[in-house]
Amino acid sequence: MRDKKWTDEQWAAITTRDTNLLVAAAAGAGKTAVLVERIILLITDPVRPVDVDQLLIVTFTNAAAAEMRERIAGALSKALKENPHSRRLAKQLAMLNRASITTLHSFCLDLLRRYFYLLDLDPGFRVADEVEAELLRLEVLEELFEERYNREDNETFARLVDAYGGQRDDSKLQDLVLALYRFSGSHPWPRFWLAEMTETFALSEGQSLDDLPWIYQVKEEISQEMQSVLRLLKQAAGWAGRPGGPELYCKNLTEDLIQTEPLVDCREVSWDKLYRSFAGIKWGKLSPCRGEVDEGLKNRVQALRNKAKDKVNEIVNTYFCAKPEILLQDLRSLHPLIKELAALTVEFMERYQKKKQSKGLVDFGDLEHYCLSILLDKASKPGEMIPSAVALELKKQFAEVLVDEYQDINAVQETVLQLVSREDNRFMVGDVKQSIYRFRLAEPGLFLGKYRQYGVTGNAAGCRIDLSKNFRSRLGVVNAVNFIFRQIMTRAAGEIDYDEAAELRYGADFPALEGVITAEGPVELHLIDGKDAQPDQAELPDNCEDNEMPDPDGEPEELAPTRRRQIGGPAYSGDDQG
Ligand SMILES: Nc1ncnc2c1ncn2[C@@H]1O[C@H](COP(=O)(O)OP(=O)(O)OP(=O)(O)O)[C@@H](O)[C@H]1O
Ligand SMILES: [Mg+2]
Repeated sequence: MRDKKWTDEQWAAITTRDTNLLVAAAAGAGKTAVLVERIILLITDPVRPVDVDQLLIVTFTNAAAAEMRERIAGALSKALKENPHSRRLAKQLAMLNRASITTLHSFCLDLLRRYFYLLDLDPGFRVADEVEAELLRLEVLEELFEERYNREDNETFARLVDAYGGQRDDSKLQDLVLALYRFSGSHPWPRFWLAEMTETFALSEGQSLDDLPWIYQVKEEISQEMQSVLRLLKQAAGWAGRPGGPELYCKNLTEDLIQTEPLVDCREVSWDKLYRSFAGIKWGKLSPCRGEVDEGLKNRVQALRNKAKDKVNEIVNTYFCAKPEILLQDLRSLHPLIKELAALTVEFMERYQKKKQSKGLVDFGDLEHYCLSILLDKASKPGEMIPSAVALELKKQFAEVLVDEYQDINAVQETVLQLVSREDNRFMVGDVKQSIYRFRLAEPGLFLGKYRQYGVTGNAAGCRIDLSKNFRSRLGVVNAVNFIFRQIMTRAAGEIDYDEAAELRYGADFPALEGVITAEGPVELHLIDGKDAQPDQAELPDNCEDNEMPDPDGEPEELAPTRRRQIGGPAYSGDDQG
């Protein structure tokens, strides 16, 4: 029965059946709550009840899995109280401990324990902890490098060490091999991925830098940097134009803006043209202004302009220090080195694997890859996945595959999920703005792909439901978060624009708390910057009191956060009712 608290969208997410569903919503919108309610209704459905062991429920942490199990147990106990003679409910409660409510790693580990005999794996295998695995990796790397040094035909390897080894030893190259190993491991076919990447350096005659598959990302990065250059210059112009400000600087700043503004949208511009444009940037000498000018404002404008100049210089030094034709030549000459690097990584991968096998160990990365070996038929190839007999069995077993925090999934994990689900039985909830596991190689593009592919009213691929209301925070917190994120979140910076669809909408109904200080008042924003914890006075408007929220309608240069200092606590504080 519908509890009256659920909104229509939430209820649709809870009850829509027989299609893939992606529930996208900001923090505190009730995604996890909806997922749990859906599970409970699936189990207690009077017409098409699903047994709890027919569900695969994937959470991101063990703590979240334990909490979810508890919530389901609570709901089942409550239902059993209402129907004390229901043998079905009693059975579900008894089976709950065996249900697959789990992190993906634990799910993979379970499969490994069940099907180790399909792999070349000792049945008594043990999962190495990260420190142990790291030491083993370093040992294998040392051995591998030692052997390469002693080889007769190691000319390319020696060149690789020269190019990437670092000044004193070869540790930088070792780090590179480890990073590539880790990164390739987040793909279902690591060797194939490495080979594919290597080939992007095989530039044939007649190809230009614009043909490189990764050049768009480089331009994207330049564009982002240029956006902040533009912001700095606009801020400087804002200060210069104030009463008492160095008005004569405005002319210089206008010239600066004319030169830099067209470079913000550089994604579609050819590399040659960009090279020429950046080489042509000239920073005119600031017009001298003395007399009535406020020294504080003058210094502030100069500081902002210098910061903008430094940023542009950094872009030039990073990307445009060589002519495009020289860069192209350099890239071509890199191809054999990159090939050697990939070969070194593959060899490392194989040796590390053997070493682990000899000790009866698996590491965290192995869990997913072994799991794939179990789930994929031997005839599978990159781009052509054929489910194994085990995968087909699991597809039959799971009535639904439900995933919380789907934005943090990576390509291997997605493949595992695909292999155990059917065409129309996945339920995923997430918020791409909360994707925090990039460092663990999460691929928010997987979430976004479905977000764009699934229709809001459903289509062959699936159905997308957006939840708009926030039930976790008070109005003041909701407003402040929207205010800040509207300024800083763009598609380039956070994968998605912070538009109306992405905004938090106050949905809770918290009672007023008499005499208790709540978050309804002025909101503090604590920015934690490890490098430079001190407030940058040049960027702080002086009308911005230490603890007051700037006027949301103010000009961009007025939008500095209320308080900047280094703290050890969380970035946002609000009252969490969840
Ligand atoms: N319709 C509703 N009415 C009242 N409270 C609700 C409603 N929906 C959800 N809640 C409550 O809002 C809080 C936040 O919900 P939940 O933790 O499920 O959000 P979430 O979207 O999963 O957040 P996050 O993105 O941080 O994981 C919970 O306390 C939940 O019980
Ligand atoms: Mg949640």
